[in-house]
Amino acid sequence: MSNSSFTVTAALPYANGPLHLGHVSGVYLPADIFVRYLRMNHQDVLFLCGSDEHGAAITLRAKKDKTSPQEIVDKYNQQISSSFTDFGISFDVFHRTSSSLHHQTARDFFKKLWDDNRFIEKTSEQYYDNDFNQFLADRYITGSCPKCNHDSAYGDQCENCGAVLSPLDLISPKSTLSGKVPVLKKTTHWYLPLDQHEKWLKDWVKDGILDGKKHHNPQEWRNQVVGQCLSWIEGGLRPRAMTRDLDWGVKVPIENAEGKVLYVWLDAPIGYISATKHWAEKEGKDWKKYWCKKEAGDRKLVHFIGKDNIVFHTIIFPILLKDHGEFILPDNVPSSEFLNLEGNKFSTSRNWAVWLHDFLERYPDKVDELRYVLTAIAPESK
Ligand code: 2FM
Ligand code: ZN
Repeated sequence: MSNSSFTVTAALPYANGPLHLGHVSGVYLPADIFVRYLRMNHQDVLFLCGSDEHGAAITLRAKKDKTSPQEIVDKYNQQISSSFTDFGISFDVFHRTSSSLHHQTARDFFKKLWDDNRFIEKTSEQYYDNDFNQFLADRYITGSCPKCNHDSAYGDQCENCGAVLSPLDLISPKSTLSGKVPVLKKTTHWYLPLDQHEKWLKDWVKDGILDGKKHHNPQEWRNQVVGQCLSWIEGGLRPRAMTRDLDWGVKVPIENAEGKVLYVWLDAPIGYISATKHWAEKEGKDWKKYWCKKEAGDRKLVHFIGKDNIVFHTIIFPILLKDHGEFILPDNVPSSEFLNLEGNKFSTSRNWAVWLHDFLERYPDKVDELRYVLTAIAPESK
């Protein structure tokens, strides 16, 4: 193996519940195997992860459990991180997006893009719950999926067919707070014009070309990743709001943005960068060597993710990285299909899972056995 260097990330799990075997076999175990292989071959590799502690997944969980978002993320950050350790996942760092280092990193990132006029400010009508006096985050609205008719799709995504949605796409929308039909009310947000990036994204994903130069070998990307990404681009990209009306998250760092936070899908992948900074501070290293074009040379960035994260890692985050200007773009984004349990997808929200911590408590001496079985049945392509 020739000498290369790698920054390897594993999708930041939401700190709204424990890890289940679906997460492990689709993302964390494949990433750990890849990293262990690189290390065995004496490659320079940094393997990072952390918990994703913002967004409506967390506030919803806090509401359900009648507690605060902070208590929820503290509890699950701890539990998730111990399960990873007990299961032998060999991260160099496991950070959290609620840290002040992350908030600062995400704010600076957004501010740079805002200063460079990369966002479009737009006022539009969004769903509002009159009983609770608040705008409804995408996850707080359910309705029928316009693509597959599944009757409890969320405002951002249908968990049945995987379609990425916006709340206005839902048929018969309902607020999960009051259970009532939400009303439309005006609010201002900052949008990333994804549509302006179609040309270079297509060259990059399809041919591995970036800025007129060979960037990566597109044959090495999984078919389902390239396929999903190109079908999005060919369907026409639309501007997407990068801010939300929510009281939990990274505050929008500009004037007249009270009550607004960064969209969790803007802030979470920046969590990879803040995790690197956190590790670098402790180890006395330069974080830029792992992320920045100038310092990183030909270092390869590899994101291990689940299938429902493809669009965020192959379209939205690359646009943000390129717009910012300082960063390298991913060399590969390995994504798996979903592992099923008795024919149905594992699901935290539907409590349908074998939990990793449960397994480890019951069978603490069977870690290698579980790693073996989950590797053998890994949902790589189906
Ligand atoms: O789907 C999820 O569980 C998200 N929390 C993954 C985030 S990955 C990255 F962007 F941080
Ligand atoms: Zn659907």
